[in-house]
Amino acid sequence: MKTTSVDLLACPACHNSLTLTLDGNTLVESGSLLCEICGKDYPIEKGIPRFIRLEELTGLNRRFARAYDWISFVYRPASTFLFVFLGGEKRQRREIVNRLEPNGGRVLEVSIGPGVNLPYLVGAPGVGQVYGLDISLGQLQRCQNLTRRRQWPVDLFLGNAEQLPFKHGAFESVFHIGGINFLNDKRKAIEEMIRVAKPGTKIVIVDETEKGAVVYRRTSPGFERMFDGKREAITVPVDLVPSNMQQVRVDHVWRGYFYCLEFRKP
Ligand SMILES: C[S@@+](CC[C@H](N)C(=O)[O-])C[C@H]1O[C@@H](n2cnc3c(N)ncnc32)[C@H](O)[C@@H]1O
Ligand SMILES: [Zn+2]
Repeated sequence: MKTTSVDLLACPACHNSLTLTLDGNTLVESGSLLCEICGKDYPIEKGIPRFIRLEELTGLNRRFARAYDWISFVYRPASTFLFVFLGGEKRQRREIVNRLEPNGGRVLEVSIGPGVNLPYLVGAPGVGQVYGLDISLGQLQRCQNLTRRRQWPVDLFLGNAEQLPFKHGAFESVFHIGGINFLNDKRKAIEEMIRVAKPGTKIVIVDETEKGAVVYRRTSPGFERMFDGKREAITVPVDLVPSNMQQVRVDHVWRGYFYCLEFRKP
């Protein structure tokens, strides 16, 4: 993480600024971020600030954080394979990234996984500094391996989409692909993406439709077990978008196996 990123950070619990303790370099490999209001000290390890601890997570967040830790080593090739049936990874991911309107500003990917969207973001016209957050340390470590190998200046954070560790209005572009359907609290995650976006920002949210979930059910035996057999059918969370958001739009994308919900913060 770069020291300049500290100005964007806020305590995920109370949104107060954080004080960085480190050794004075421009890149922070280790140290901590202190919230003087709630007294919480968030550690930074191997360049990644950690705003959550696995053992403190509950419900689906805990189950999915653990599951993604386990499958992080196959996620990237599995994604490429899946996209053979979805119309090609490069084309389909680029179609979503092209919807963003960062205008040279900061882009946040909430639930960045191992960085599968980064090839279409880093260095693309209009994309400024890129930031990524995920609840799975395994996924983030894969992502960091990629960014370091390619020398991409992407800052990564371990955190929960429902409690983002960023200041209000910190980003010119905010997007999310692939996690929101199964968060503990989808409404909170949408509110958080709105909170950290600057006024005028377009927010883009993509996840599988029920048609997509049925494919998971048929192909991966552990999928329905994550919900103890009580999974509710997926609906697009458009009713959770606050009524003051503008240009709300839903498209079916990636051959109808995913939806894309987008809107603009006034
Ligand atoms: C299907 S993957 C999507 C990864 C990547 N965005 C993509 O386009 O392929 C879902 C990601 O959501 C993350 N995730 C699940 N619950 C989360 C939460 N509560 N907060 C942040 N990330 C979460 C998982 O760890 C996983 O990396
Ligand atoms: Zn605090």
